[in-house]
Amino acid sequence: MDFPVSCKLSFIMLIIMLPISATAQSNRNVTLGSFIVADNSNSTWKSPSGEFAFGFKQVSPGGYLLAIVFDEMPERTIVWSANRDNLAEQGSRVQLSPDGRFVLNDPRGQRIWAADLAGSGVAYGAMLDSGNFVLARNNSVVVWQSFDHPTDTLLPAQVLSQDGSLFSSFSERNFSRGRFKFILQTDGNLVLYTLNYPMVDHDAAYWSSISNGVGFQLMFNQSGFIYITARNGTIFSYLSSNGVSSSQFYQRFTLEYDGVVRHYVYPKSANSSGGRPMEWSVNVFLPSNICLGTIVGDTGGGACGFNGLCSLGTDQRPICTCPTGYSLMDPNDRLSGCKPDFVRQSCDRNSQETDDFGFISMANTDWPNSDYYYFPSVSEDLCRRSCLGDCFCDAVFYRGGQCWKKGIPLPNGRIDSSIGGVGLLKIRLNTTRNNRPGSNISNKSNNRSALIITGSVLLGSSVFLNLLLFVFGFRFKGRKSKTNIQPYTFLPGVNIRSFSFNELQEATDGFKEELGSGACSTVYKGALKDENGKVVAVKKLDKIEKEADQEFKAEVSSISRTNHKNLVQLLGYCDEGQNRLLVYEFMKNGSLANFLFENPIKPNWYNRVQIAFATARGLCYLHEECSTQIIHCDIKPQNVLLDESHIAKISDFGLAKLLKPDQTKTTTGIRGTRGYVAPEWFRNMPITVKVDVYSFGILLLELLCCRKNYETNVENECEVILADWAYDCYKEGKLNSLVADDEEAIDDIKRFEKFVITAIWCIQEDPALRPHMKRVMHMLEGSVEVPAPPDPTSFIS
Ligand SMILES: *[C@@H]1O[C@H](CO)[C@@H](O)[C@H](O)[C@H]1NC(C)=O
Ligand SMILES: *[C@@H]1O[C@H](CO)[C@@H](O)[C@H](O)[C@H]1NC(C)=O
Ligand SMILES: *[C@@H]1O[C@H](CO)[C@@H](O)[C@H](O)[C@H]1NC(C)=O
Ligand SMILES: *[C@@H]1O[C@H](CO)[C@@H](O)[C@H](O)[C@H]1NC(C)=O
Ligand SMILES: *[C@@H]1O[C@H](CO)[C@@H](O)[C@H](O)[C@H]1NC(C)=O
Ligand SMILES: *[C@@H]1O[C@H](CO)[C@@H](O)[C@H](O)[C@H]1NC(C)=O
Ligand SMILES: *[C@@H]1O[C@H](CO)[C@@H](O)[C@H](O)[C@H]1NC(C)=O
Ligand SMILES: *[C@@H]1O[C@H](CO)[C@@H](O)[C@H](O)[C@H]1NC(C)=O
Ligand SMILES: *[C@@H]1O[C@H](CO)[C@@H](O)[C@H](O)[C@H]1NC(C)=O
Repeated sequence: MDFPVSCKLSFIMLIIMLPISATAQSNRNVTLGSFIVADNSNSTWKSPSGEFAFGFKQVSPGGYLLAIVFDEMPERTIVWSANRDNLAEQGSRVQLSPDGRFVLNDPRGQRIWAADLAGSGVAYGAMLDSGNFVLARNNSVVVWQSFDHPTDTLLPAQVLSQDGSLFSSFSERNFSRGRFKFILQTDGNLVLYTLNYPMVDHDAAYWSSISNGVGFQLMFNQSGFIYITARNGTIFSYLSSNGVSSSQFYQRFTLEYDGVVRHYVYPKSANSSGGRPMEWSVNVFLPSNICLGTIVGDTGGGACGFNGLCSLGTDQRPICTCPTGYSLMDPNDRLSGCKPDFVRQSCDRNSQETDDFGFISMANTDWPNSDYYYFPSVSEDLCRRSCLGDCFCDAVFYRGGQCWKKGIPLPNGRIDSSIGGVGLLKIRLNTTRNNRPGSNISNKSNNRSALIITGSVLLGSSVFLNLLLFVFGFRFKGRKSKTNIQPYTFLPGVNIRSFSFNELQEATDGFKEELGSGACSTVYKGALKDENGKVVAVKKLDKIEKEADQEFKAEVSSISRTNHKNLVQLLGYCDEGQNRLLVYEFMKNGSLANFLFENPIKPNWYNRVQIAFATARGLCYLHEECSTQIIHCDIKPQNVLLDESHIAKISDFGLAKLLKPDQTKTTTGIRGTRGYVAPEWFRNMPITVKVDVYSFGILLLELLCCRKNYETNVENECEVILADWAYDCYKEGKLNSLVADDEEAIDDIKRFEKFVITAIWCIQEDPALRPHMKRVMHMLEGSVEVPAPPDPTSFIS
């Protein structure tokens, strides 16, 4: 759809024949033979008003750009440059030669750049007040002008004609030609393209003017209006109709490195600023949301590069980030895309790696146009499992029963509330599975991924149990070992260690960052220097008090007997003088309480269901599968933590009771936390595992309804206590009124109802009526029927 060549030429001639404005004064003329050298003298050719200057600007340690700049503002913003892809070294020289050529040479006389002169007879050059640098004949006919060769910026009075284009810079500080192009096509459309970097040919259009192919010129007039005109001169559409006067404001229209074209204004004086800041501020920009680029290419990485994620900041600028588990290809280039920091899943048929992978779940995140499989109607669980079991799959997007599978490289990544659904990125979990005694501890991939101690390590390790025997004198039956242990040394291959107080003080930077606190303890974030800065949670028990010592012993002895993926793992401890500290794996996503009650976005339903299963499994293990039965006694959302893939793990065994199978006790002091505390604590009844079932029931209701059990800020008085309200709803056959506007839960209403009814069974006041955790699990999983529960309060003590 190009013009015939002759037509194009005659059009160029038309521009050249225009006489230049008379504002340039003869004493401002650049005479034949004049030159400027790239050095630190900063000599320039200024426009008569002094607003613009032509000369060298140093942009890198040894690199100079021959440029036109706004000369009167501290930033000296560049509006045009000659040699963006070929910087000049110090000592280079631009000269208007005596024979009328305009050339930039390096110090050895090698040409770097030259003005492409249409015709000859150049008599002088001039930097005009418009920001246009011209070369002209004696009769003032312009032979060459910078306005005809824009780089990334248009100025008022500048015209972009058909086939004229702007190329973005590479980055904020690197002025090389970058990744985006703005062009008024010969077919009359004004279009923004991504480029097949480093080629000039464009790849995908991500914005286009609605000009029906009649665009002939893009005008930027002195009143700050930017518009497309038709061939007959009528204005077709405005890009910027928020005009500001050029006499009061500097202005420019720049295609920036992030792919957005922005009309910027800068007050010439505080008096004329009209309240605008004394700096460049954006007047108009397009496209309005580059992350959502209305047209997505078949190839190319999108606004942030492959595997990157684009979201709009509060200042409306795109922000490029890498998802968890990924990092920038080029740390100095935010648009370079992201690479995985882990070894991807093996496609070897014998590999049993599926368990090593999990998902980072990101609401409202998608990578459109990159699917290789699509399931129209599946559950999120099936969608996830399908990806986990598929070595080609690196991510899925799940929304309303639809599942899209995607592989690396992931293009067009974006985060926006309009997307809905959830993006699930498959990452290798941090596991020390292979880090058994004798294995190559210095192996890189093991070191990089070392947070979760897998069960086999602890269980198979009588060394560890002996260690505890040694330190605390607990007695274990049926386990024997002949290993000699030194209590305060690292035990190779076991991953449980004893720390000195100094080590932990250093690891936590003097107990600086607090993660949370309990009745007699505070938890700090730390990093183990000698283990590649592995992040840990260090729990420091308050000194002296007897309770603290009991808490310490209870915690160590109970957690040391455990080994389950839904229990937080103990990595080490410190028992030095009065100092009692415990070191745990760090749980990246904080507590369930934060997730449920302090989350600005509604917690994902799938995650909540999985958390219910995980917590039930963890409890079931404590009650039924440990060598010694453990009653946690303090199950509540604050004590359920979430790892990087939102897998729930029970923590805080500080109140736990170790009971022999036949031993139940009556208590004196009340343990646990109000609201989650089973009634038998108050009634002088035996304390059994059923107290945890009660607490779990309350937790489950909170998880289902994303609110606290006790909540005064509600519409009806009957809703204040969730447990009571839930039973009322059940009795009246209106369980759906608990769901409120939770669409994901509404889509899964059968499961929601089953879970609520299971929870009602758990919170029966009569402990004998509450099911055991194993049965609770079966009820949740659907492997047994969930019968109609009685009224929880029907129990008369
Ligand atoms: C610059 O110099 C030329 C001749 O050297 C002269 O004709 C012209 O008037 C001068 N330009 C201006 C704008 O004064
Ligand atoms: C040239 O500009 C640089 C950077 O702005 C400055 O450090 C230097 O002193 C200037 N040199 C002269 C001779 O003005
Ligand atoms: C331009 O005019 C001046 C005198 O007005 C003359 O000296 C000079 O040679 C002329 N230059 C050209 C290129 O014609
Ligand atoms: C600018 O970026 C390009 C492309 O990556 C690179 O080749 C060039 O060296 C960079 N220039 C500077 C001055 O860093
Ligand atoms: C610029 O364009 C606008 C809109 O068409 C018009 O109102 C204004 O007068 C123009 N300004 C100049 C200086 O031509
Ligand atoms: C100018 O051209 C446009 C598009 O070609 C057309 O819609 C419009 O009517 C024309 N206006 C005049 C005054 O000719
Ligand atoms: C700004 O306005 C004040 C009062 O209107 C005047 O005194 C002052 O000179 C002005 N400053 C400039 C830089 O124009
Ligand atoms: C252990 O790892 C190092 C570095 O990765 C490697 O050089 C060495 O050969 C490995 N040793 C064994 C026994 O695998
Ligand atoms: C795995 O651990 C390494 C180092 O401890 C950490 O940099 C990385 O972010 C972790 N990966 C995830 C997904 O948390």
